[in-house]
Amino acid sequence: MYRTIRTGSPRKPAVLVGLPTGTSRLPKSLQQLDEAHGGRLNQARRSRMFNGKIGDLVIEGDDVVLVGLGDRESLDLDAIRRIGGRLVRHLHEADLHALDVQLDLTVPESVADADATGQSLAEGMGLANWRVDFFDGKATNRSAASGTLTLTSTCRDVRGGIRRGLILAESTNEARRISATPPNICIPSWVAQQARAAARRVGLQCKVISFAEAKRLGMGGLVNVGKGSAHKPCMIVLEHRPSRPRPGQHIALVGKTMTYDSGGYSLKISNTMKGMKYDMNGGAAVFGAMIALARLKVPVHTHAVLPCAENLVSGEAYRPDDIIKMYNGVTVEVTNTDAEGRLILGDALSWTCRKLKPTAIIDVATLTGGVVVGLGHFCAGMWCRDDDLRQRVETAAQSTGERVWHLPLWEEHRTFMRARHADIWNSGPSRNAHPIQGAAFLSYFVDEGLPWTHLDIAGVSAVEKQDDLHVVGPTGFGVRLLAEVVARSGA
Ligand code: BES
Ligand code: MN
Ligand code: ZN
Repeated sequence: MYRTIRTGSPRKPAVLVGLPTGTSRLPKSLQQLDEAHGGRLNQARRSRMFNGKIGDLVIEGDDVVLVGLGDRESLDLDAIRRIGGRLVRHLHEADLHALDVQLDLTVPESVADADATGQSLAEGMGLANWRVDFFDGKATNRSAASGTLTLTSTCRDVRGGIRRGLILAESTNEARRISATPPNICIPSWVAQQARAAARRVGLQCKVISFAEAKRLGMGGLVNVGKGSAHKPCMIVLEHRPSRPRPGQHIALVGKTMTYDSGGYSLKISNTMKGMKYDMNGGAAVFGAMIALARLKVPVHTHAVLPCAENLVSGEAYRPDDIIKMYNGVTVEVTNTDAEGRLILGDALSWTCRKLKPTAIIDVATLTGGVVVGLGHFCAGMWCRDDDLRQRVETAAQSTGERVWHLPLWEEHRTFMRARHADIWNSGPSRNAHPIQGAAFLSYFVDEGLPWTHLDIAGVSAVEKQDDLHVVGPTGFGVRLLAEVVARSGA
């Protein structure tokens, strides 16, 4: 693994070109370059190692790198990202340190323009060049990350894309780092500290609503969920305030940030508790997206709200049967202390509506196991009753490769959450339509008519199997998606 991937103007970069499967002769667009490199492009193409399949790689001399683009029909932004991911792992082994990216010469404009080609490749490289090694100790058998990979291009648009792609990957990796930090270190105050430090670094405003303040404000959800832990809850608020914002746009991103979810008194049975350090991945995604927005200077006013707590068992913890009053005055009968995410989010959403008055809200949460059962690790569950916002999120998801699938939220679902002894309960007596219950619950805390999307990322925010872009662990799902939605708002 490289220590860093950056942009720059290296002295003698190897040229990076790509060809799809079934290329019987070097295309015109590469001929000039081939001549400049003594015919080594064509030599690489003829190599027995090269079929053009995604991930095929031939390094010819010290100045030509040829990668397979796969089948022409399936070439898309996601494929380019995956090519970047595979490439970076091989390049490090080959001890290569500088690349002149010229994939745009053979990627059809209809698939991706030069800018998008550079961005997707750099995203893939940046995402794949990450792992959890910050807890390696004296007995590790992993070699330390080493060296730098410098990317450039003779094409200006590609260079711009690479720069953006690297920033997006780095922002995603920052979310992954927070997420991978275990719950004995990553407690609410630690997250707040990380937010403050990041804000200073990239130029965001940061405010933290303390436990005492949350109590004063009547945030019954956040307070009750978090009070059972010695590490008390808080709510972190980040603001990206560009100097010349697009008028009429003010987006709020809200992320569930449970630093640990034991289930509380409705305790998770043994093997379902393991991995609940990832119950903050919604908050981490929002956090990463804010870093990206600041670093990319996206001209859209954006707030991030991270309700942050730890769900544990103690003499002070909340219990099933408690009835609590939320920030907006809605009362909730706690039927299950393991349905805690919606409680902290309810307060965050209604506080966001009342205090920030955004023009749209997107919340992101590892909310239910049900969405994992229903959709697996293939996509996030999505709820949105505003057609325009829904379409914007779906379009963004298509280009970032972070898939979402729309599920219903009807009046019947909302009625289903009504309780006997309080306004609503946090979980119905049966687990029917479980992920939808979560969304329906949250809807009681969002102003009517305000465009709002809920994303349940429980199935996609961490992987148990390595793929082209991710090692086992957090994926940072949502960082690029949220940044993309915001960047396109009002454009
Ligand atoms: N954090 C969990 C959801 C979760 C489950 C995330 C598996 C990632 C993987 C959430 O707080 C939870 O416990 N949900 C319960 C809700 C139920 C008790 C109403 C669930 O899904 O079982
Ligand atoms: Mn839970
Ligand atoms: Zn949870």
